[in-house]
Amino acid sequence: MAATDLERFSQNAELESRNLPLGGHVGFDSLPDQLVSKSVTQGFSFNILCVGETGIGKSTLMNTLFNTTFETEEASHHEECVRLRPQTYSLQESNVQLKLTVVDAVGFGDQINKDESYRPIVDYIDAQFENYLQEELKIRRSLFDYHDTRIHVCLYFITPTGHSLKSLDLVTMKKLDSKVNIIPIIAKADTISKSELHKFKIKIMGELVSNGVQIYQFPTDDEAVAEINAVMNAHLPFAVVGSTEEVKVGNKLVRARQYPWGVVQVENENHCDFVKLREMLIRVNMEDLREQTHSRHYELYRRCKLEEMGFQDSEGDSQPFSLQETYEAKRKEFLSELQRKEEEMRQMFVNKVKETELELKEKERELHEKFEHLKRVHQEEKRRVEEKRQELEEETSAFTRRKAAVEALQSQAFHATSQQPLRKDKDKKN
Ligand code: GTP
Ligand code: MG
Repeated sequence: MAATDLERFSQNAELESRNLPLGGHVGFDSLPDQLVSKSVTQGFSFNILCVGETGIGKSTLMNTLFNTTFETEEASHHEECVRLRPQTYSLQESNVQLKLTVVDAVGFGDQINKDESYRPIVDYIDAQFENYLQEELKIRRSLFDYHDTRIHVCLYFITPTGHSLKSLDLVTMKKLDSKVNIIPIIAKADTISKSELHKFKIKIMGELVSNGVQIYQFPTDDEAVAEINAVMNAHLPFAVVGSTEEVKVGNKLVRARQYPWGVVQVENENHCDFVKLREMLIRVNMEDLREQTHSRHYELYRRCKLEEMGFQDSEGDSQPFSLQETYEAKRKEFLSELQRKEEEMRQMFVNKVKETELELKEKERELHEKFEHLKRVHQEEKRRVEEKRQELEEETSAFTRRKAAVEALQSQAFHATSQQPLRKDKDKKN
């Protein structure tokens, strides 16, 4: 096709479509059914992240929600840091297959220093987005049978203190709100009185709003569910009770928690919001949660990641986006950055060498001065020793002279005394 034909073709494509009546039944009205049938054959995946302190009732609630017993392992309170534990199950209801992954944030809130408690959770969510992006970027993609592990919803378990949210809760929710759909729930709601619960809910919502934490809002744009969703949005956060125990109430066995003073029925809307949660999470908005994850949270991750890699959409009538050009531009940018770094390092090395040279010179000068000083001290010492030696020599010769004189005197005296008896003998004889 010539360039002008191509231009005309693309112009025509932009023209508005015309409405045409059909002469009879064609059959494309079965398209939605075909879509449903294809989706059912393919199966669905749904991934839930449970964040809440150890022992708050995460596993019990999951078991209650899906009416089964998942493999669970009690967490210890001595984890050094928060650890994410995903477990995947295959569930079937009627002819619908659900690949459900429940991810537990093990050890959350158990560390003395909780500054970094949110990080492993954020990293886990990002890692699932990254895996999906890598699959998308592959030349041979297999997104059709790809096991999508992106987190569709985060159930954030709030401790039923009746006071206010802990800073750990606010910080964690704030860090997660752009990455995942958060549904806050008040756990173990049977441990808080009705009036306290009402005030607690208002307080929590107030704190979330004033701290700018975006929680998941049940969508109100689909007429079929707009009303119920709008009502349920006003009930957030849901106050839930979990139990897998069955208690006989009247002549029916119901899931409940039995206390000496009465029975708390999990599925009784006067007792707690469990039914509301199940309705909203599973029966009405599961697909919207999956959709939002893909179109909002993953899209944001993907956009930031691609922009980080240097890809940009063309704007207005500028040149169309080209992978080759982006690659070249990024390569050039990388090489010039490398060159800049190399130059910086070379300069740093030269400066270091100069510094060391100066230091060495200074040291040499100091050593030289020290040597001169020692030399002077040594000469002085030598001079003093020489003087001492001369003094000593003079003293020695004076001593020798004195000794010779004394000896001479002594010998004279001896001579004189040895002559005297002879003379006395002579005198006696005479
Ligand atoms: P880890 O996985 O070890 O962090 O605990 P968890 O959050 O999964 O809590 P789990 O479901 O194991 O429950 C801990 C304890 O709380 C158990 O004794 C449950 O019976 C109890 N529990 C669970 N849900 C509720 C609830 O709604 N109300 C009350 N009062 N107790 C509950
Ligand atoms: Mg558990």
